[in-house]
Formats: sequence, structure tokens, C-alpha cells
Amino acid sequence: MTTLGRDIRELREAFPALARLRRGKPPIYLNNTCMTLRPRVVIDALRRYYEEFPTCGGGRSEGSRQLDNWFQEELREHEVHARQTAADLLGAASSDEIVWTRNTSEALNIVAHGLRLEPGDEVLGSEREHNSNLVPWLEAERRLRERAGDPELVVRRHFDLDEDGGFNLERALAAITPRTKVLAIAHASNLDGTVVPDDAIRALAARVHEVGGVLVLDAAQSVPHRRVDVRALGVDFLAFSIHKMCGPTGMGVLWGRYDLLAELDPFIVGGDTIADTWQDRVEYKKPPGRFEAGLQDYAGMLGAAAAIEYVTQTVGYDTIAAQELALNTRLTERLAPLTCDHFWLLGPRDPAQRGGVITMTSPSGALINAIERLGDREANIMVRRGMFCVNAYLHKRFDAVGSAKNNLRASVYFYNTLEECDAFADIVERVVRHPLDYFDDA
Ligand SMILES: Cc1ncc(COP(=O)(O)O)c(C=O)c1O
Repeated sequence: MTTLGRDIRELREAFPALARLRRGKPPIYLNNTCMTLRPRVVIDALRRYYEEFPTCGGGRSEGSRQLDNWFQEELREHEVHARQTAADLLGAASSDEIVWTRNTSEALNIVAHGLRLEPGDEVLGSEREHNSNLVPWLEAERRLRERAGDPELVVRRHFDLDEDGGFNLERALAAITPRTKVLAIAHASNLDGTVVPDDAIRALAARVHEVGGVLVLDAAQSVPHRRVDVRALGVDFLAFSIHKMCGPTGMGVLWGRYDLLAELDPFIVGGDTIADTWQDRVEYKKPPGRFEAGLQDYAGMLGAAAAIEYVTQTVGYDTIAAQELALNTRLTERLAPLTCDHFWLLGPRDPAQRGGVITMTSPSGALINAIERLGDREANIMVRRGMFCVNAYLHKRFDAVGSAKNNLRASVYFYNTLEECDAFADIVERVVRHPLDYFDDA
């Protein structure tokens, strides 16, 4: 398969996991929303750290302290390069705006803990935020309730999306009030792939700034798939995970406007976050050092830089977008006609609005189980079943029809092929058309 003149088979050869066989067949990996596979260049970058300079780092922004040993000096070069690579990816003003985290969840927790919210302030999100962009704010609400001595205090509010799950800018704008101190939204949905358009983000940022608030963008499902420029969008904080873009597991990024990072209280503190301590007081480093407690995942930083370079330079966002559209179009053409009272798709019908994600649902958990089991046994298909950390939205929308918990998601990345989509669609078709034939198995 070629996309924009690129031979996808050639790209696939860079991924060792795709060369594996089980029962004589290769894997069909359709769980990319959760985590992507890694190309050899990323694995080599990780190995390089352990083989060549496996020591503690000193490459923080305030790492100007004299480094006097061989391995540390070599590592420092890579640390500086990695942070700059992440800054360039996002169009950040400086690499000091990049905080390494373990993942998007940790990045969002740093913001939710660090902002100095007062009783009466409100945090706004959509009805479909990932738990990682919901629970930290519910915890902030709990702390503010305790502080105010008011168990009824409402801090976290939500606005509704369109009926088909698309983003509704008017509703979002209308929900912003003078009390809104934080607007925390997903840039793209991990449930149905829908994206908040750039113009809408800019309009929301302008409005939330007018009332003195900040816009926190959960970019876990956007940065791996499209160019995201924090300054062009006008957002204040952004979080994403490197493991969703060919990078090592447990690496993420928090980007924040430097003046805002400088006002944020540190969350996890201790070694390496401090400029100095005395028995009774502490002086923290400037950002980003004050947010990176203890020794870090230095191999992960090398891997992160390699992954970002691979995704943006070797593959390129144009190829990613074109390939995802081709694959999701095929999946949609094959699966949408199967719609019936026990099977339907979530989100907008048009695959162009759903990135690389297609999610199907059923009031019958047995049917969803059967598709997953059959795909695994017959074709090594890996998809994801469950509520995908958007429990609150699924309960709100689908408890009444009994399908909230019975969802199956297939998510593609640039290395997937039309043949893989067809293999998955064949399985779905068999089970949906003849469910009783497969229920005993499930
Ligand atoms: C939209 C969204 N936000 C946040 C997260 C959390 O990412 P992580 O598990 O890497 O912290 C995910 C993970 O799937 C996600 O899809």
C-alpha cells in the first residue's frame, strides 16, 4: 500500500514487533490510541543510554553546575537535545517550557495540583473528558470543598457535545463564565476520534483569557497525529504522551507558558527539584527543574527525541493523516452497513472527522466479547474493549440503552494496512451477522 507516494510496507519494516508470528500469522495491531508500537531507531536510542552513558543526568535548565565526569557530560548533550526536540515539536518559546512527565495523566495532575484555585473558582470541561482530565479536577474540587467547609461546593462543571459526539463551540463558549479559572479539554477524543478544530481552540482561549482563566489542552490524541503549535493555538498548558507516538513507555510531556509554569506550585517534590534547602525551608528551582523530582528516565528522554524525530521527519504528519483517513474510510465502509439493533458505531459517520479511531458498541456484552475473542484467536487482532476511561460520558449517554460498558475500539496508525482493516472487518461481520454461532465461545 502506498500513501502520498510512501511505501507503507517499507515503514512497517522499521517495527520489530510487526515481524513476529503467532500460529504462523503476524500481529494486527489496532490499539494505537492506547499505545503505539516502536521503530528500531527508538529502541536503539534507549539501548544507547544504557550502553554508553548510563548515569544520572544534569541537563536541567539549571544544570549549569559544572559537570565533571565523562558520562554525565555526554548524557547532558542528549538531555538538552531531547528537551529542545520536544519544544520544537510544539512551537514552544523555549525548552524551559518543557517538563518531562511519565505520561499525560501526570502532566495534568501537575497542573491541577499546582494552580492556586480559590473557593468560588470553576473548572470547565466537556462531558467527554478522559478520566485523566476529569479526576484531577474532581480532586481539586474535593480539596476546595474541604477548605471552604462546604460539601456542596461545585468547582468542576461540564458542557455538552453535539448529539453525534462532535465538538460544539457555541455550547463551550456559552459555558464560560467570569468564575471560569480553568478550561480543561481534550484536543481529540480517544473514544470516537473527533477533533476540536484549531479555530475553536483559538476562540475558546481568547474567551477564557478575557475572564482571567487558562486553557489546559489534553493533547494525548492530537500531538501523535497532527502538527500542534501551542503559540498559534493560544493555549496555556498542554499535555501529551510520548508512548502514543512511537516513543518509550512511561514518557510524557507537560508544556506550559513559562510565566504560568513559574507560578505553579510544584506537585511531587524532593531531590533535584530544589535550588537549596535548610532545616526549616526550601528554595525551589525555576521551571522545568522544580517539577522533575528525583532521578529521571534518561533513556526515555533519548527515546522521546528519537520518536519525535521519527514521527515528524521520517514519517511526517501528512503521511499519518492520509494513511489514517484511508484506513478509517475502509473500516467505516465495511462496518457502518452492519448497523442494526444490536450493533452500531459511535461518533460522526464521516471518517474524516474521526482521525484513526472507530468505536463500535452493543447492548450485548457477549457480542463485543465474541468479536474480540475471535479476532484474537483467528487473526492475532489486538483491539480494545471497555469504557476507555471516558466512563462518565458513556454512563451519561448510554446507560439508558444498556450499551455504556460494551464498546470495542479499533485505532489505526500510519503502519496499519487496508488488508489488516479488512481482516478485522471480516471478523466483525461474521459475529454481527450470526451472533449465536459465536456466543458459546465468548
Ligand atoms: C484523551 C486522553 N487523555 C489522556 C490520556 C491519558 O494518557 P496516559 O495514560 O498516557 O497518561 C489518554 C490515554 O489514552 C487519552 O486518550
